Amino acid sequence: MNIVVGVAGGIAAYKACHIVRSFKEAGDEVTVVPTESALRFVGAATFEALSGNRVSTSVFSDVDEVRHVRVGQEADAVVIAPATADVVARIAGGHANDLLTATVLVATCPVIVVPAMHTEMWNNPAVQANVQVLRSRGITVIEPAHGRLTGKDSGPGRLPDTEQIVDVVRTRMAGYSFPLDLAGKKVVISAGGTQEPLDPVRYLGNRSSGRQGYALAEIAAQRGADVVLVAGNHVALPLPAGARVVDVVTTREMEAVMNQEAKDADVVIMAAAVADFRPANEAAFKMKKGNDDAALASVELVENPDILASLVKRRDAGEVPAGCVIVGFAAETGDADTSALEYAQAKFERKGCDLLMANEVGEGKVFGQLDNAGWLLRRGEEPQVVHSGSKHVVSAQIVDAVVAHLQ
Ligand code: CTP
Repeated sequence: MNIVVGVAGGIAAYKACHIVRSFKEAGDEVTVVPTESALRFVGAATFEALSGNRVSTSVFSDVDEVRHVRVGQEADAVVIAPATADVVARIAGGHANDLLTATVLVATCPVIVVPAMHTEMWNNPAVQANVQVLRSRGITVIEPAHGRLTGKDSGPGRLPDTEQIVDVVRTRMAGYSFPLDLAGKKVVISAGGTQEPLDPVRYLGNRSSGRQGYALAEIAAQRGADVVLVAGNHVALPLPAGARVVDVVTTREMEAVMNQEAKDADVVIMAAAVADFRPANEAAFKMKKGNDDAALASVELVENPDILASLVKRRDAGEVPAGCVIVGFAAETGDADTSALEYAQAKFERKGCDLLMANEVGEGKVFGQLDNAGWLLRRGEEPQVVHSGSKHVVSAQIVDAVVAHLQ
C-alpha cells in the first residue's frame, strides 16, 4: 500500500519516525510529507532514510512531476501524525499552501488526522470546531491520548501509541469508517484475563492478551462513546485513546466494577476471559514444598460468579438500564459430535445476552494473535460471519452490530 505520512511541526514529530518504520516494516511504500516547521524538529534526512523516498514540503518542488497532485492521487491512505492546531485549521479551511495541505485536498483515499498539542489548545473551541469540520467531511480524527505532555503538565493532548495509529489506518483501508454513532453513549468493556491468587506469588490465570477488548475500546471511543475499559491481567498494551481504564485482578473484583459501571451504561461488552473457578483458600504466605505439600498437590476450587449472566439478570431486575445492549464472547473448540458454532449457540442461550461473538480457538488461534474471525449471534437471526482481519477489523463489525441493536 502507498501510505503518505504527513508530519506537522510539534514536539511529537519525532514519533512520526516510528510510524514510518512501522509501515515500512510491514512492506508498505511510504512518502513522508512534513510541513516546514516539522523539519525544525526532525530533519528531512531522517525521514528520507526511514521512508526510502525523497522528502519535500513545498508545492514548488518537482513541479515537472506535478508532485502536489501526484502524492495525494497515488495514496491509499494519508495519515497526519502529529497534526498541530495550525494544520487542523488549514485542512478545515481547505488551504493548499504547502505540499501536505495540497495532498489532503487531492486525496480521495482515507485521511486520518492525529492531533497532538497541549490540553488547552486541544480544548479550545476553535480547534474543536475545526475537528468537527474534518469529521463531518469523513476525515478520521483520532482523539489524543491522556498523559504527560512536554512540560510538567498532563492531560489529553499526547500522540497515541504508534500501534494504535497504524491499526486505525489499516481499519480505514480495510473499508471501515468511524461514524460518530456512539456519541453520548457509555460503553463498558471488560478485557484480558482475571487472575485468582493461590498465595502472594502464585495465581490461576489464562493467556488472554486483552487485545480484543482493547481494540473494541479504541473503536468505540473513535465512534464517540464514553468508554470504560475494565482490564484484567495487567494488560501490557498502550491505553486506548479516549478510554478510562479500571484495572482489576480477580473475577470478583471485575464483577464489582462491571456491576457498578453498568448502572448507567448503554452497552456492556464482556470480552474478558474470566476465570470460572478460584482457589477456595488464599494462603497469606508463600506455600512451601515440605510444609504445604497437601495444599499444593491438590488445590480446592470454588466457582466464581458468571458476570455476563448476572448482568443480564440485573437488567431484568432494573439495576442495569432496560435498553442496555449486553454482548458476550465465546471461545470454543469443536469436537466429534458438536461444532464450535453449535457450542457457541448453546452458550448464547444459556447466558441470555443480546449478541455473542463466537470464535473457534485451538491450534494457536486467537489468544494473543493479531487476527481473529468467527460468527456473531443475534436472537432470531442466522449467525453472521465476521470477516477475518485484525482485531480492529473484527471490532468494527461487532460495534456495527451493537449500533444496529441500539437503534
Ligand atoms: N464470562 C463471565 N463470567 C464468567 C465466565 C465467563 O462473565 N465467570 C463471560 C465471558 O467474558 C464471555 C462469556 O461469558 O463473554 C463466555 O465465556 P466462556 O469462558 O466462553 O464461558 P463459560 O461460561 O466459562 O463456559 P465454558 O464452560 O465453555 O468455559
